[in-house]
Amino acid sequence: MHTLCGVTFPDFHRAPNIADNPEVYERENEAIDPDGPLWRELRARADWAGRTILDLGCGTGFWLPRYAADAGEVIGVEPDPDLLARARERGVVRPGAVRPGSAEHIPLADASVDVVHARFAYFFPPDCEPGLAEVRRVLKPGGRLVVIDNDLRHGEFADLLAASPWASAQGAADTTDAWWREREAERTEVMSAWRCRDAAELEAVLRIEFPGDVVDGWVRANPGRRELSYGYVLFTVTA
Ligand SMILES: C[S@@+](CC[C@H](N)C(=O)[O-])C[C@H]1O[C@@H](n2cnc3c(N)ncnc32)[C@H](O)[C@@H]1O
Repeated sequence: MHTLCGVTFPDFHRAPNIADNPEVYERENEAIDPDGPLWRELRARADWAGRTILDLGCGTGFWLPRYAADAGEVIGVEPDPDLLARARERGVVRPGAVRPGSAEHIPLADASVDVVHARFAYFFPPDCEPGLAEVRRVLKPGGRLVVIDNDLRHGEFADLLAASPWASAQGAADTTDAWWREREAERTEVMSAWRCRDAAELEAVLRIEFPGDVVDGWVRANPGRRELSYGYVLFTVTA
């Protein structure tokens, strides 16, 4: 249970990877999708150029500048007060556009948003119905939610997740797919990569995501590597 500005977010789960290590998480975000297939697919799913986009669970607001480059309006919603403060400090959108809230409590009017992105935030089925109902409420008719999730089956990142009991606790592939299928979401796989500046940076990023022994084993087996393959699954719901 978490209370902020008098509002209670009963389902707010602190995300230790970013909350305990915001600087390393910044490097992680910089490493994502170096050749752009994820971004191309996000555009194809629901273009935000000239439109209102909500980054739900925006963390430190790393992606807000990217959206702000051509969106009509960018809104970030984040329940963690420390991360919210960092997102505001980024200063790329007006301060009031980065708001306290959660998937279950989105501080926006009905039918006010064209595109919602949730990147590794909240939507880890099966307990996501309240957030999905809330997203449907704020989307304009024909608007789209795109959830950016890990592909739990393909790519080296999926292999690391499979080897990490607590890292894989966020969901099982079959449960996740079935939950979204029942809600008529479109499912899209994107194979991409993480590319860090050097091997030490990749190791540091891996250490905020996986248990030490799993990272030790991967580094021993992959000396000098600064890149790994990373599969994403996008789930798209049209209001
Ligand atoms: C792994 S981080 C990803 C942050 C950001 N989307 C990014 O890609 O940089 C997960 C985020 O979800 C937020 N979160 C936790 N519970 C949430 C909820 N109930 N609704 C929306 N976001 C939530 C966390 O505070 C955290 O900022």
